[in-house]
Amino acid sequence: MISPNSIEQLLNAVVVEDVVGDYVNLKRSGSRYKGVCPFHDEKTPSFVVSPTMGIYKCFGCQKGGNSIQFLMDIDNLSYPEAARTLAKRYGIELIETGGGQDDSEFREKQKIRESLQAALDYAAGYFEKQLQETEEGKTKAMPYFKERGYTAETIRKWRLGYSPEAWEAFTQKAHLDGYKTEYLEQAGLIKKRDNGSYYDLYRNRVIFPLIGVSGKMIGFAGRKMSSTDPAPKYVNSPETELYKKSDFLYGIFQAKNAIKKTDKVYLTEGYTDVITLHQAGIENAVASSGTALTPNQIKLIRRFSQNVTVVYDGDKAGIKASLRGIDLLLSDDLNVRVVPLPDGEDPDSYCTRLGAEGFASYLEQNEQNFILFKAKLLLQECGDDPIKKSEAVRDILQSVACIGDSLKRNAMNRELARVCETDESLLAAELGKLLRNKNLKDEQQVINGVKKATAAAGVQLPKEPLSDVYVERALFRLLLLHGDAQWDEMVTVGEFIMKEIREDEELLFSDEVCAMLASQIKFGTLEKWPGATYFVQHQDSGIASWAAGELSSGYELSSAFADNFIFVKTDGDNYKNELIAVFRYLRRKKLDNLIRHYTNLLKHPEADVEEVLEYLNYLNELKSVLAKDIGGVVFSV
Ligand code: CTP
Ligand code: MN
Repeated sequence: MISPNSIEQLLNAVVVEDVVGDYVNLKRSGSRYKGVCPFHDEKTPSFVVSPTMGIYKCFGCQKGGNSIQFLMDIDNLSYPEAARTLAKRYGIELIETGGGQDDSEFREKQKIRESLQAALDYAAGYFEKQLQETEEGKTKAMPYFKERGYTAETIRKWRLGYSPEAWEAFTQKAHLDGYKTEYLEQAGLIKKRDNGSYYDLYRNRVIFPLIGVSGKMIGFAGRKMSSTDPAPKYVNSPETELYKKSDFLYGIFQAKNAIKKTDKVYLTEGYTDVITLHQAGIENAVASSGTALTPNQIKLIRRFSQNVTVVYDGDKAGIKASLRGIDLLLSDDLNVRVVPLPDGEDPDSYCTRLGAEGFASYLEQNEQNFILFKAKLLLQECGDDPIKKSEAVRDILQSVACIGDSLKRNAMNRELARVCETDESLLAAELGKLLRNKNLKDEQQVINGVKKATAAAGVQLPKEPLSDVYVERALFRLLLLHGDAQWDEMVTVGEFIMKEIREDEELLFSDEVCAMLASQIKFGTLEKWPGATYFVQHQDSGIASWAAGELSSGYELSSAFADNFIFVKTDGDNYKNELIAVFRYLRRKKLDNLIRHYTNLLKHPEADVEEVLEYLNYLNELKSVLAKDIGGVVFSV
């Protein structure tokens, strides 16, 4: 257990905006900093860092805490791991006392992770040494890197290495140096033969170390050096406790500062592309390692910038295959652009051909909007065939439908009509159809997901699905549509709702528009109920289109929701009942969150178990009161 005194000392020394700033692009806003939350998907920043209090808080997804908590959340560290990481960074010595009950399982896991880490760090050093200091490395591998145009500095920066042409060179050396077989194997460095002996995974290959976002060694890729060698081009680290291919972007650690600074990321396919671009001074480049993009890779990108420029290899087949993956980027509301390369070139080869300056200006001059690029590409292939053409247009509209922001979507529609030489209103009608289908599917997916998850956990499904977003939206819909109506003799609905939101710290919203509105109410930019038109004319396009949508379409739940929902269709002055239901739902969610939070807290080494249990009892009591309470909206925890 780490002594409470040293934790306090540590937290006093830590600069929260630096710790968080390593992961989130923070902008100063008054005495605080704001940024896009790294823990949930959002367009508009509701993530706030307060230097004076030393904490971060997301008003969208509720995550919050001090610097230690932040590292735990973002890097999946344990409490002691996070504390030690920070202590190292700030040169503070932590006093650790023995003992601490009940985290033995945790310690065991952590010990394994530390052992794997040690094995990987050792291997990285070994491979580097093989390249830099052995005769074999200097005569076989070094010329290969030099041939690719890598400078000595580049080779050191990326910690490139070499694994010799032998079956057990690494295995034996690692054993001699005291590394245990089980950890070497679990780290993906050695493999077992049928007869029980072990051999090296990487043989006769140059080594590209894979470094995680926080700078830790997590795996390796070994590339063959000769194109006539029939072996596969790359041998990659297997999935391990520390390396998950689908979570990883090559170069992200080395690129993250440049990405924040330029507010833009170049997305390439290969390790060699990233290295060459960095060497040419384009340091905001990362690679997806050949495969289609995954949602976690996209999340990782979003932490640093919303502007993604894809620079994929210049063969038609490759580009067409990657179109689908890029739609994923659009649905996350990233601004996606493409730079096409000439046939047969990849960023590596083309940058080498044009030189650093030439390539940089090529990128600048050839960057284009992804959807328009896709449209031109698909339409080119249709010629004059009207059937093919309408199929292509539908395909392109699928991409447009992925854009979440309605203003951006409509602007894109207009552009498209021009490129496709079609009537804008025809496209808009088609797009509307696609969107409606998509929304219905999403709703049904939410419901199914909730049912499955609760069934799996053995939880009794409450009458309504736990779709927070729908309830949150319902609250703000009530505000918008009935804000001027009376709640009771004293206050209007608008005043009532705003007071609740302002006074209840724990009333948090996961939906972006709701979180944004709530934070404006909380932080005083919205003090009095301004009336509905204020929102329609709001400068934030998300809020404006939300308000316009609610006011124009009227309020109707889809049948999927009506079947599962506590309050069905509402109109007229039914708003009071609905408001009660909404608040009760939010209140229960808040209680559930608190209960979950304190249950987790029990696992912390510093927790005062008795006190926490007592509070948990109290929360559970409140919950049962809430369940019985039919009429009132009184709830202060
Ligand atoms: N890749 C892989 N395994 C393979 C082939 C490719 O993991 N057998 C991944 C690697 O991350 C590689 C990327 O896909 O960097 C792009 O593949 P490719 O263009 O074939 O390789 P490059 O690294 O670009 O190598 P080179 O430019 O020398 O051909
Ligand atoms: Mn390539």
